[in-house]
Amino acid sequence: MNVKVSRKAHFNAAHRLYRKDWNEEKNDTVFGKCNNPNFHGHNYELVVSVTGEIDSETGFVMDMKVLKDLIKNEIEDALDHKNLNVEVPEFNDVNPTAENISVFIWNKLRPHIEKTKELEVVLYETPRNFVTFKG
Ligand code: NI
Repeated sequence: MNVKVSRKAHFNAAHRLYRKDWNEEKNDTVFGKCNNPNFHGHNYELVVSVTGEIDSETGFVMDMKVLKDLIKNEIEDALDHKNLNVEVPEFNDVNPTAENISVFIWNKLRPHIEKTKELEVVLYETPRNFVTFKG
């Protein structure tokens, strides 16, 4: 019997979406306001879910305190109040879109979650725009 447990988290970060190999016009057309050369911020909302069997001794799928600390140490400390393009090496040459950030988060967390459990990351870039990555 699989149960999904979820933890919400939050971070603020700045980014710019553009390609160095495209001219200004094409970057503007594709990325719009997110191509602002001076960067801009988003209030990211994150939902991390772990699905698996309930442990017969603890009654937990995963200890939420452990998940909370994991998100704090691996994600919030790495991304909160950062300029993603400049300060997070993984985004030096990869556009920090919500899609790519969700993959980054999943990759950071996956090694710390039991192999038998499924990990899902939902990342809201705005209250209406969100992406899901399950690996
Ligand atoms: Ni943006």
